[in-house]
Formats: sequence, C-alpha cells, structure tokens
Amino acid sequence: MRKPVFAVATALGFVAAAALAQQHDHSRDQHDRPVTQAADSHGAAASSDERQVVQFPQALRERTLANMRDHLLALQQIQQALSTEDYDKAADIAEQRLGMTSLKLHGSHEVAKYMPLGMQNAGTAMHRSASHFALVAQEASATGEMKPVLAALSRITGNCVACHAGYRVK
Ligand code: HEC
Repeated sequence: MRKPVFAVATALGFVAAAALAQQHDHSRDQHDRPVTQAADSHGAAASSDERQVVQFPQALRERTLANMRDHLLALQQIQQALSTEDYDKAADIAEQRLGMTSLKLHGSHEVAKYMPLGMQNAGTAMHRSASHFALVAQEASATGEMKPVLAALSRITGNCVACHAGYRVK
C-alpha cells in the first residue's frame, strides 16, 4: 500500500514552502483561532457563524468541496471495513484517501497557498492522523484489538471537526 516516499516528500515540500511563505503575511493569519480548541466544543451550531472566511478561486473551491465529499465517503468505507474486521482495507483507504499519501492526489501545494496558516496546520494534522490510523489498523490485523483503532479513527474525525469549526470557503 505504500507509495514512493519521493512523491510524499515532494508534496510535503510544497506545503512546507507555502507555510513558510505565509509566515510573512501576518494580516491573513491574525484571525486564526486555535483549531484544537474548536474540536473540544460540544457541538450545537452557534447562532452566529464565526468561522473565518477563506477566499478560494471558484474552480479550486469546487475541487476542494469534491475532495471533502470523498473524505466523508472514505470515512464511511473505513467504518464499513472495520465492521467486518477488514483492518488492512481500512488502513489502505485511510492512507490512500486521507493520509500523507493523499497529499499529492489532492493537489495540496496548490490549495495550501490560499489557506491561512492555521488552516494549513489543521489539514496537515488530519493527514497525519489518517496515516497514524493506518498504522494502528495494520497492528490490529495481528492483535484483533478494535479499541485503539476506534480511538485513532476518532482522532481523524476530530481533525475534520476542528477545521470545519474554524473555517469556511468562498
Ligand atoms: C483543513 C481544513 C479541513 C479539514 C481538515 C477537513 N475539512 Fe471538510 N471542509 C473544509 C471547509 C473549509 C469546507 C467548506 C465549509 C463551508 O464553506 O461552509 C469543508 C466542507 C466539507 C464538506 C461539505 C462538502 C460540500 O460539498 O459542501 C464535507 C462533506 C466535508 N468537508 C468532509 C470532511 C471530512 C469527512 C473531513 C475529515 C476526514 C474533512 N472534511 C476535513 C475544511 C476542512
């Protein structure tokens, strides 16, 4: 299931470069709120929408939202695989569609330059937690232990929730 390390490293390089470039642009980052905090809020739509609006070019916005829908589909397919204890399949879906391997697939370097730093970090955290999930799920195919797998899965969804709580795109 592993893709060449080179591809991942390249995609990461782009993201890192975009992140560095943005560190000089404080005006765009000052409204960022800590995303981890957002994940702790107890649901319930607030009456006012305080998410930061991020401007994307129209085509990129559409592509990003299509990726998002695939993220949700991937989560569903992971849960389906876990329900039949097909840990390897769950790991594979997580790594390929949500993990570090998916960065290139999603054209992350192109999207990252439109994102405030906090949003980039939320994206990176999500990709990392998905790759971590893949490792935990692979371990479970030897141990049969479901609990750590569910905990790792909830860390992925926690990262989805955190970014959604902080940002919207226009
Ligand atoms: C880096 C930030 C970020 C992460 C991480 C993230 N999303 Fe999103 N997602 C967004 C933004 C921004 C929107 C658009 C919200 C808006 O404009 O109202 C969105 C929208 C969506 C939508 C709606 C798509 C549509 O057609 O309108 C779905 C579904 C979705 N995300 C699923 C997920 C899932 C599942 C995950 C985790 C596996 C995830 N997202 C992780 C930022 C993120």
